Amino acid sequence: MKSNLIAASILSSDFGHLADQLQQIEAAGVDWVHIDVMDGHFVPNITMGPFIVETCRKYTQMHLDVHLMIERPELHIRNFREAGADSISIHVENNPNALRTLQEIQAMGALGGVVLNPGTPAHALDALVPFMDYALIMTVNPGYSGQKFIAEEIQKVQVVRKLINDINPKVFIQVDGGVGDQNIAALASAGAQCFVSATSIFKYPQGISAGVKALRSALE
Ligand code: DX5
Ligand code: ZN
Repeated sequence: MKSNLIAASILSSDFGHLADQLQQIEAAGVDWVHIDVMDGHFVPNITMGPFIVETCRKYTQMHLDVHLMIERPELHIRNFREAGADSISIHVENNPNALRTLQEIQAMGALGGVVLNPGTPAHALDALVPFMDYALIMTVNPGYSGQKFIAEEIQKVQVVRKLINDINPKVFIQVDGGVGDQNIAALASAGAQCFVSATSIFKYPQGISAGVKALRSALE
């Protein structure tokens, strides 16, 4: 697994020009497209479904990373995979059969990730570490882009990194929420390898390419 992956969350992109925005992030050197799926139940916001994944697939060959913030995610895995998702993550908080869902994702040929909300302790992952491809540690409460980074989550990244190193070192850690050039280095030293960002890429004052450059140079 390559480290220092940058995943651009299209939640803050200009949907009137989605194909163009995808081209711009690709040209800027972004590794993954992060697609935030919200259902208005698990989180207050409602966003996008498999149709948007399919649209992204039509316009880019980049890795499509789907973050499911929905109730009953197990009912929708096949649709997202068939739409073109290369990795799919599910939250632990609302899924009593998280392992089954994870195995379904992997059996369909995608990477399977498990997500922790800021209010969920690191040990909620314990039993899933042997099976998952990646852990996603939320560094904001899920629901919206543009929220303030919760610095306390850096310590959780350290705890999860240790857990992973002890049990299944090939698992990588993704972080999501308020990630920017001011905290990305601290997250990397805590043990994260994949950095999701919406605002610091799509709303960067000097443009997308400069935003990605700022993240990259903060990582070096
Ligand atoms: C929040 C989403 C994030 C969000 C990140 O629920 O999971 O992916 O788009 O946005 P920023 O980078 O603006 O915090
Ligand atoms: Zn996300």
